[in-house]
Amino acid sequence: MTKRILLIHGPNLNLLGFREPAVYGRTTLAELEEAVRTEGRTLGVEVEAIQANEEGAIVTAIHRAVEGFSGLLLNPGAYTHTSIAIRDAIQAVALPCVEVHLSNIHAREPFRQHSLTAPACIGVIAGFGVFGYRLALRALVHRLEQ
Ligand code: DQA
Repeated sequence: MTKRILLIHGPNLNLLGFREPAVYGRTTLAELEEAVRTEGRTLGVEVEAIQANEEGAIVTAIHRAVEGFSGLLLNPGAYTHTSIAIRDAIQAVALPCVEVHLSNIHAREPFRQHSLTAPACIGVIAGFGVFGYRLALRALVHRLEQ
């Protein structure tokens, strides 16, 4: 059966393409999702995407992923730097999760340089814009095939 991957976008990422384009680029969320789905087709996996601005909705989406998904791609947005709840949810479901950031969070303000969620993930890709999501999907599929 085809493996399914859940792509979760956190707060403000619905504004992608319009929000601070110098930092996050001009690609819209719909275009980004299409790029990841296309990458998924070449890798033989199905990608489903959701976006939520609320922390609890992201926690619930992670819980639900246990039913029918093999892994997670997650950009927690600003919750990266604050959310013990999202970190705990990733640990609780024990699905392999790759954290993705469009920007290089390590080269930005000090408060963005620490991720609370990354220790619950198998790895992090940051700083490569939309291409980073394709890299993250490849890394996740590689892990699933091991
Ligand atoms: C982000 C980085 C976060 O610090 C920020 O709050 C975001 C986007 C990124 O993809 O670069 O919303 O996760």
